[in-house]
Amino acid sequence: MNTHHAGSTPNPGRFSIEDELEFLQEAHCGDTLKARRQACAAALRQGAPAPLDSSELSTAGSIAWRNHARCIGRRFWKSLLVRDHRHVEAPDAIFESLCDHMTLAYNGGQVRSVMTVFAPAEASSGRAPRIWNHQLCGYAGYKSADGSVLGDPKNADFTGIALELGWIPPKERSPFDLLPWIISGYSGPPKLFPVAVDALPEVPIQHPEFDWFVELGIRWYAVPVISDMCFHAAGTNYTAAPFNGWYMGTEIGARNLADSDRYDFLPTIAKRMGLNMRREATLWKDRALLELNVAVLHSYELAGVRMTDHHTASRDFMRFCKNEAADNREVSAQWSWMVPPMAPSTTPQYCMPMKKRARTPDFHFQERPYQAAADEF
Ligand code: ARG
Repeated sequence: MNTHHAGSTPNPGRFSIEDELEFLQEAHCGDTLKARRQACAAALRQGAPAPLDSSELSTAGSIAWRNHARCIGRRFWKSLLVRDHRHVEAPDAIFESLCDHMTLAYNGGQVRSVMTVFAPAEASSGRAPRIWNHQLCGYAGYKSADGSVLGDPKNADFTGIALELGWIPPKERSPFDLLPWIISGYSGPPKLFPVAVDALPEVPIQHPEFDWFVELGIRWYAVPVISDMCFHAAGTNYTAAPFNGWYMGTEIGARNLADSDRYDFLPTIAKRMGLNMRREATLWKDRALLELNVAVLHSYELAGVRMTDHHTASRDFMRFCKNEAADNREVSAQWSWMVPPMAPSTTPQYCMPMKKRARTPDFHFQERPYQAAADEF
């Protein structure tokens, strides 16, 4: 397998040191602001990470969330809990911290937004700690020789790498096998960590009226913790900085379980509903999609796991836009991410012009630290 470090971290590059440190205005004023700016600028000019204190890091984290053009849930940006683990870069220590992150984030079902910031990329060498998983929770996608996938096709490449690194999947493979974590530090090979099943809470999906629904054996995990994005703040790339919010139902019901290149459950559900699938115009997909989404919202509520629906989330987004306007800030947003994949035209943002703006701090995609394994598993 091919691992690499140099050049694998995003460098927005368009920002001057001054731009990078502008967010400090939201943490300090007067002489303190001036002094903190000077200290951070001096470090950056020498290629060192800005020496933010924990509370400045926390401010940067919240602002990165506020700035992120692809998040509909930003009304709650001030509530982000930022864990300052910048002294941590060894895989074992990262693993321990991630277990605590999960517990804090799940919070007994009352999911809260948490980010853990590990050691940053070295500006000179590009060496950087990385969590190889896309999310801390995710289901294996087992490729078979005929090209089909058991489980989540989105994780097929990662599953191949995990197996290559010695992951032992459950004796009987299922469509919902939680993946282990793969973590690499500044140096040394990536390390595989099997995760205790009860560390990653899940919700069985059932329908409030269709008793047969539970027989489909569908489940999903409680907390989406994005672990492969780069948190860029104060001129520094934090390549391992997992963060989470709580789910909006459609992410699961209208995409993960419904997309034809993901779990593709609509035909199965439509059949069980007895719908006429011979003609598109019967709207069997739409009706199956609706019931799947009813089931997802119902099941999370029944399990006592926090989740929002797309109408509430849309209202919250409009509130966020209003709050931002009141604070004289322009919202950066990408229309296709702000408009939910169900009943889009019923949401107020459907007719709203939006613009994505380059901002710092923010979250960025970064190159995968691995390439797909060559062999089929
Ligand atoms: N859409 C992704 C998923 O379905 C999760 C992205 C983050 N979502 C969130 N509600 N914070 O797993």
